[in-house]
Amino acid sequence: MKVSVIGTGYVGLVTGTCLAEVGNDVLCLDVDVNKINILKQGGIPIYEPGLEDMVKRNVAAGRLRFTTDVAESAKHGAIQFIAVGTPPDEDGSADLQYVVAAARAIGQNMQEYKVIVDKSTVPVGTADKVRAAVQEELSKRGTQLEFSIASNPEFLKEGAAVEDFMRPDRIVLGAEDARAVELMRSLYAPFNRNHDRLIVMDIKSAELTKYAANAMLATRISFMNELALLAEKMGADIENVRHGIGSDPRIGYHFLYAGCGYGGSCFPKDVQAMQRTAKEYGSELRILNAVEVANERQKEVLLDKITARFGTDLSGKNIAIWGLAFKPNTDDMRDAPSRVLIKGLWERGATVTAYDPVAMHEATRIFGNDPRLKLVDTPMAALEGADALAIVTEWQVFRAPDFVALKAQLKNPVIFDGRNLYDPKDVRAAGIEYFAIGRL
Ligand SMILES: NC(=O)c1ccc[n+]([C@@H]2O[C@H](COP(=O)([O-])OP(=O)(O)OC[C@H]3O[C@@H](n4cnc5c(N)ncnc54)[C@H](O)[C@@H]3O)[C@@H](O)[C@H]2O)c1
Repeated sequence: MKVSVIGTGYVGLVTGTCLAEVGNDVLCLDVDVNKINILKQGGIPIYEPGLEDMVKRNVAAGRLRFTTDVAESAKHGAIQFIAVGTPPDEDGSADLQYVVAAARAIGQNMQEYKVIVDKSTVPVGTADKVRAAVQEELSKRGTQLEFSIASNPEFLKEGAAVEDFMRPDRIVLGAEDARAVELMRSLYAPFNRNHDRLIVMDIKSAELTKYAANAMLATRISFMNELALLAEKMGADIENVRHGIGSDPRIGYHFLYAGCGYGGSCFPKDVQAMQRTAKEYGSELRILNAVEVANERQKEVLLDKITARFGTDLSGKNIAIWGLAFKPNTDDMRDAPSRVLIKGLWERGATVTAYDPVAMHEATRIFGNDPRLKLVDTPMAALEGADALAIVTEWQVFRAPDFVALKAQLKNPVIFDGRNLYDPKDVRAAGIEYFAIGRL
């Protein structure tokens, strides 16, 4: 099948590449010339496990191509995926300008029937806006062409995106006509061989499903984070509590980890956007308001622990940070808790030496060459002469350090663990002060 993917970011590149992998003829479009040049030269602009090899394989097989030519992309795919960004507007609502621009470009250039599929995370009602934009452009051309609109929200997790796409838990499809459903069903057939994962519903429910999923996950995190702060005050251990409640199948173990807050390109903006949409409909999502407030608070927790230990004036102190990405296996630092910690440390006069397995180029892009941030090549190098270590991302490589060597490197043997990676007994037995989140 011929497929066009508009927007070649995390979602678009993974979608396009995985669809090419199963034999489709895929053209990925982006307005970012730089990104397309990197891809055309055989590189990839993001870090995502397994993706680079898959891109190379499919480019070599002639099934995957990249372009900045809007007209070429609009003509190519019988299915046109819109996978552009939907960043927060000033008031927190989703900014739909890129989605609408993509829709207009299709309307301006299409020559035959298309299924236009929204894969970006968009508020309920966006499909109507996409339809109106395409129709308006067709009318301007004085052309009558049939097209279908569908919503196919993406549930991939950065860091496991290829696996998630190739072996999805579910494929949600919002559609309103049989022709679109049939085309989408055949497109997804290779991912459905074991059992049917396609859940077909009306478009608005599909749009809402994506926000509901992210809102529920963010809620679990904020709930555990608040409970962890309470556990600390009470002298209870949140890890014991997690085990105790996770064993209930109605609750389950997933997404119950206390930490230093959620970040990334999705949860923060989707929680906000959902609140905005609810307000537009005269509803208030009180639980989600609290989820957001709790998360903003939680991103300060490591800094609070550091200042409680060293005082509010951190001038002359150097803090080592392990982990900059908002979660492991990605270089994405959008809304990452590490950014809040680094800024907070700077404001109090400290400098930072940091290590992350893949996000250091992203850190350079964000912070420039600020002399208050030194990036080093190994976790141990970050500790050299540092006053303490703060752990912000739960990369595997941080899970079993040599505590003796670690202690020897630090000026003060203190760890502030924002991801609860260690057994407090082990760390303390090594003669290291240990401050985790909600642990005894
Ligand atoms: N990143 C994730 O983990 C994830 C998961 C599920 C859903 N989503 C959603 O998917 C959407 C895309 O997210 P992302 O992380 O891939 O974003 P991204 O910022 O990585 O990529 C978006 C791309 O779209 C391009 N673009 C913007 N306007 C364009 C246009 N008119 N034509 C062609 N290209 C255009 C941008 O240049 C950019 O490369 C968002 O709505 C997001 O909420 C993201």
